[in-house]
Amino acid sequence: MAPRPRLNALRGPLRTLHSCSRAAQAATASLALPATVASSLAAASAGSETTASTTSLNGWIRSVRRQKNVSFAVLSDGSQVGGVQVVLPKGLDESLTVGCAATLKGKWVDSRGAGQDKEFKVESVDFVGESDAETYPMPNTKQGIPLPVMRRNAHLRLRRDGPAAMVRVRSEMNWAMAEHFRRQGFVRVDMPVITSSDCEGAGEVFRVVESSPSSPAPASTAPASSPSPPEPSTAAHPPPPSRYLTVSTQLHLEAITSSLPRAYTLAPCFRAEKSDTARHLQEFWMLEAEVAFLDADTPTALDQVMTVAEETVRAVAGHVKAMPEIERYFAKHSPGLEERLEALLAPERYVRMSYTRAIELLQEHAAANPDAFVFRPTWGSGLQTEHERWLAEEHVKGPLFVTDYPSALKPFYMLPNESSWTVDSSRQTTTCFDLLVPSLGELAGGSLREHRLDKLVAAMDKHGLDRNAYEWYLDLRRYGTTRHGGFGLGWERLVGLLTGENNVRECTVFPRAAEGSRF
Ligand code: 4AD
Ligand code: MG
Repeated sequence: MAPRPRLNALRGPLRTLHSCSRAAQAATASLALPATVASSLAAASAGSETTASTTSLNGWIRSVRRQKNVSFAVLSDGSQVGGVQVVLPKGLDESLTVGCAATLKGKWVDSRGAGQDKEFKVESVDFVGESDAETYPMPNTKQGIPLPVMRRNAHLRLRRDGPAAMVRVRSEMNWAMAEHFRRQGFVRVDMPVITSSDCEGAGEVFRVVESSPSSPAPASTAPASSPSPPEPSTAAHPPPPSRYLTVSTQLHLEAITSSLPRAYTLAPCFRAEKSDTARHLQEFWMLEAEVAFLDADTPTALDQVMTVAEETVRAVAGHVKAMPEIERYFAKHSPGLEERLEALLAPERYVRMSYTRAIELLQEHAAANPDAFVFRPTWGSGLQTEHERWLAEEHVKGPLFVTDYPSALKPFYMLPNESSWTVDSSRQTTTCFDLLVPSLGELAGGSLREHRLDKLVAAMDKHGLDRNAYEWYLDLRRYGTTRHGGFGLGWERLVGLLTGENNVRECTVFPRAAEGSRF
């Protein structure tokens, strides 16, 4: 296979501009906060805390096993997979119940039991917060806690190893992603959540309306005795434009890259998804990156954007793969995870194939295996998840970019493939891509953008869009337009891919999906 070009090796604007500073890490040392369970155990294991020194551990009790002269408890503060075993002499264990919060003072000693080198010998207990073990929703049971119970108790589920590990992985992903983009000279820009347009044109927007006196009041934390002053009358003004929760920050990010050529954001996006699938949330986080001054050659320009997406996935996956959470928790719960992570990090660049080629391959497979797919692959129809997964899992056995989808399936802003528009009008395609990965299907989608004013206006008319609502967007083509493009990547989907969680509801703490939420 051809060697994978590194991002830095690309021509022109994508060369590294900055190196990363680690100053932020040093700042934590000055915070006078107590050690975490993980850091205290690590210090003890490294020999820097001897049996002579008394130290404190804060956490929640996961289990208590009372014996004749001594009790064993497991204490956890979410800082590592698995809690730590603590040993309490008789009399000290009385206040401890499953779920309670406590500060234990004592010493690390070599453990005689299996599974843990050190255990914590408790000398005194500061009881912090009680817990009724009878009703505690997150007990340590051998058989685990059923998924519906975990989801109903999302506010407490981080007491369990898996959800806590997911949160730590996601936190590190954010860090690795930010460091990667910073190294590549991208600026991070925070984007508006309330917008005036449906960027994707799929009609999945949530409309923002002010609550009327008759609509139910949302739960309020404001004191009851502080009524807000009456709003001035707006009767004399024209009605304000409709407002929506953003489905994608792309159009605004394009505005940024018409001044700062490399920009990205990680922002919440909202889609009124009715479908109850393992891949869709109504509120999810999307990483979006946009680059200006792309190459004048269209396939090369699309390659540049795909390379940005690929390098981002690699940077984040490489960082996560080295986390102890993967080996100690996720790999044990998701067979094949480590191989899937290796496939994301393999030295060859990700396979790139056109939609037309993908359809041919799918059709050949369907002809030889009539029961392979529920949906028949046909040119002009979107790829179903089963098609995407077959391509990634069976055919490529790794990630792949599928490019140049039919124009009829795509939003107004994508740059058409001019050659396809002149050769065969029934097979018009756009310069776009989806990044497909095993066990999931679509992870990211991106494109080159129509940068020419007249063509963009024509595309908007064709899609029936109100030009007036997009005047600011058209300005970007009026005043110094450039060839530009970018992509969006579902953050929960990437969390799921890197941890082996196969439902995005487990990849965010408080999921909002079609079924609603009590939180
Ligand atoms: O493919 P999408 O719809 O692309 C866009 O919104 C572009 N405007 C992005 C861009 O070019 N800047 O969404 C991008 C990604 C998808 O590939 C998917 O991973 C994720 O966002 N996504 C969702 N994730 C969870 N729940 C949903 N309902 C999602 N919809 C999209
Ligand atoms: Mg898409």
